[in-house]
Amino acid sequence: MTTMPQAKYRKDYQTPDYTIDEVDLDIRLQDHQTLVSSRLTVRRQGEHNEPLRLDGEALKLINIELDGEVLSEHRFQVVNNQLQIDDVPEAFELLIITQLDPANNSALEGLYKSGGAFCTQCEAEGFRRITYYLDRPDVLAVFTTRLQADKDKYPYLLANGNKTDSGELENGQHWVSWHDPHPKPCYLFAVVAGDFDLLEDSYRTKHGRDVALQLFVDKGNLGRAEFAMRSLKAAMKWDEVRFNLVYDLDIYMIVAVDFFNMGAMENKGLNVFNAKYVLADAKTATDQDFLNVESVIGHEYFHNWTGNRITCRDWFQLSLKEGLTVFRDQEFSGDMSMRPVHRIQDVRIMRTHQFHEDSSPMAHPIRPDKVIEMNNFYTVTVYNKGAEVIRMLHSLLDEQGFQKGMQLYVERHDGQAVTCEDFVCAMEDANSTELRQFRRWYEQAGTPVLSITESYDASAERYTLHCRQHTAATPGQKKKQAFHIPLRVHFYSDSGELLKLTSDELKNDILQLTEEQQDFVFEKVKEKPVPGLLAGFSAPVKLDYEYQEKQLLTLLAYSQDPFICWDAAQQVYLQAMKKAIAAGSPVQLSQASLDALKHKLENQQSDPALVSLLLQIPSEESLSGEYDVIPVADIHRVCGELKQLLASELEKELKETYSSCHPQGAYQFAPTDIAQRMLANTCLAFLANLKNPEITALLERQFSKADNMTDELAAMQAAVHANHTSADNMLREFAAKWQSNSLVMDKWLATQASAARSSTLDSVKQLTSHGAFSWQNPNRIYSLVATFTHNLAQLHREDGEGYRWLREVIVRLNSSNPQVASRLVTALLQWRRFDEKRQTLLKQELKTLQELPDLASDLYEKVEQSLQ
Ligand code: ARG
Ligand code: ZN
Repeated sequence: MTTMPQAKYRKDYQTPDYTIDEVDLDIRLQDHQTLVSSRLTVRRQGEHNEPLRLDGEALKLINIELDGEVLSEHRFQVVNNQLQIDDVPEAFELLIITQLDPANNSALEGLYKSGGAFCTQCEAEGFRRITYYLDRPDVLAVFTTRLQADKDKYPYLLANGNKTDSGELENGQHWVSWHDPHPKPCYLFAVVAGDFDLLEDSYRTKHGRDVALQLFVDKGNLGRAEFAMRSLKAAMKWDEVRFNLVYDLDIYMIVAVDFFNMGAMENKGLNVFNAKYVLADAKTATDQDFLNVESVIGHEYFHNWTGNRITCRDWFQLSLKEGLTVFRDQEFSGDMSMRPVHRIQDVRIMRTHQFHEDSSPMAHPIRPDKVIEMNNFYTVTVYNKGAEVIRMLHSLLDEQGFQKGMQLYVERHDGQAVTCEDFVCAMEDANSTELRQFRRWYEQAGTPVLSITESYDASAERYTLHCRQHTAATPGQKKKQAFHIPLRVHFYSDSGELLKLTSDELKNDILQLTEEQQDFVFEKVKEKPVPGLLAGFSAPVKLDYEYQEKQLLTLLAYSQDPFICWDAAQQVYLQAMKKAIAAGSPVQLSQASLDALKHKLENQQSDPALVSLLLQIPSEESLSGEYDVIPVADIHRVCGELKQLLASELEKELKETYSSCHPQGAYQFAPTDIAQRMLANTCLAFLANLKNPEITALLERQFSKADNMTDELAAMQAAVHANHTSADNMLREFAAKWQSNSLVMDKWLATQASAARSSTLDSVKQLTSHGAFSWQNPNRIYSLVATFTHNLAQLHREDGEGYRWLREVIVRLNSSNPQVASRLVTALLQWRRFDEKRQTLLKQELKTLQELPDLASDLYEKVEQSLQ
């Protein structure tokens, strides 16, 4: 690295010295010598004599003209990835010609080749790899794009907006021009060129606009695109009904590509998707895959308003669009089907991954203050905690108040690049309320711990909840101030009736915590209630309340809030596992707990999905979140023991449930069937731990007879995760059957990388030379390597071999794809959370990375932060 990567600070924001009103791009696509001519209409902003500074990276500059005159070498200079032109007029036209090498772009940022197709990824700062530009989200321009390429290879030439013209050229080339009438920042720019199968449909908006819907997929995949199309139409409808937001162009295109660093991208009118969030059919996709397609299709569509029409002023405001859009996609999924299942899955992500990030060296507020590499901030904190912050606003204002706020936000800021502060102001003004303290959720990092105790005075019939909140220091933020926390509570009698407790401070079941310490008093309470605290996971906090087993079993049996019910089971498991670790003794569950779980299994008909979720024990990773110093071996031991214990104690009920709840007949993607498959497969996963011929037969029958991927994969995973003797055979058969489908083979890679075997690292290493794996494709790397980094006991092997291998992988990816490398390094950063021996080993690998001569800014930022 010639110059150290520089940090940027939120407080240093300044409006740009110049802006660009129009961009006219002419792109001649070629594998190694793509020519980009960009004609910019530039205008000075404010009174100053600053030079024009345009961002550009890895570009070959061919020519610059200002108002039609070629700029000679002394009129401009290129320093530190900026093109600087002195003495420019008030308003002028700039023509810049650059040359690119997309076929050698392995970082998948800017213009690159995915298989046979050209495509782009510009968010956050990829447009500067296409041409010199004011690459910042507060410069909004109207884009016109002309694409030219070989007609045989690239029959489809796509860009943002509406197609305006096209033509053929004599040399086998053709061209198409596009115009996007909506001013946008360059991160929303996209082009795609390739040969695809095209699925077409249409949608009439409630304003009567007919929108052409086009879904482009790799040849031969048309049948697997239908579900995505259905989801798109559902999303368009839902946004009209629930948010009164209506689509604004005559065409909406989605292209599925095989090589993509992230999930998908909301480019105006032309979404580019990772194929795994588009392609789905019963044979090759699991129920969860279908649900993921629905949610990501929704997410990118919802960005059209929350992100595109109203965008971010600067990248520190990323959660303005991402937190809000995740909240919207979560609500969409919940309204479509199985709301409780979605909510519990979202909570799991928060508790395992986001809480983990909060306790790591990279902890940051949902609106960060300091960034070196923006790509490092597309995080569970900005996205998922950001969505929880929006959800808290929704709880405080309720649906009606929240929608009033949304309406004002759109009225005020349509067509603008704004801040999180603008959003909160709109919520305040529309509801005539103030959210002064609530803003701390944007400012402070870390997970608040909410400690609650209670007292009950039977003679005075008075019940009091004593609440205390504390948030530990995070990097750069020593002392935290109290958060405004909506605490949703329900109360039950011992026999499970919902009690109506009253207090002036309780509104719609919500207590508002604003102080470090606060008591809430309830009068005329005739019996000591069982409190169901944090119902619906009403705030992204850790609850510290010492539930007695009896209370947990009451909540498990009677809670009307699915989250509380699920969490009660989780707490029963956690208490048992922690106790066993502390005592160094085997895990035990009381007969009462076992009976409660049996009862749930015997009465699963009312909600099989919830029963499935509450049976599943916490992962090794989430149990590790309970410890300051993670006892790797103990965690591994107790998780294994608890599975074994549940399998043998509940054998009869698990078998009965398995055979009674499996859907009859052919596969259908319908909520009741999904729920039944969830439960049947959870039962099977437990049963696989009992190695007897009857279970072996069950496993093998399901594996070979399944007419859908959900059941086929569940059987194989059950076998692998239980170290069952059938496992190796299934893996072999699965590979033989699916070798030509890379998305299915990703599941095969991931299953092996998550195996709790001491040989897992060796198999993972070997799999890197398997035909199903490739170092060029992020999906393959995430399936094999990222999955392995979440395999607690195998990554954190005592001999340090897991660390050493991961470091080698990161070194390799540092030069080819730094974004992917950076996502993998996360597992090494938390060295402070391990015993001394592992600390030494981890630090050694981090230091090796730190000393790499060409360390990418993505890795530099994380490694430095971790070693500080
Ligand atoms: N805006 C996209 C989405 O959330 C994500 C793009 C992330 N890109 C990146 N290079 N970090 O839908
Ligand atoms: Zn997004």
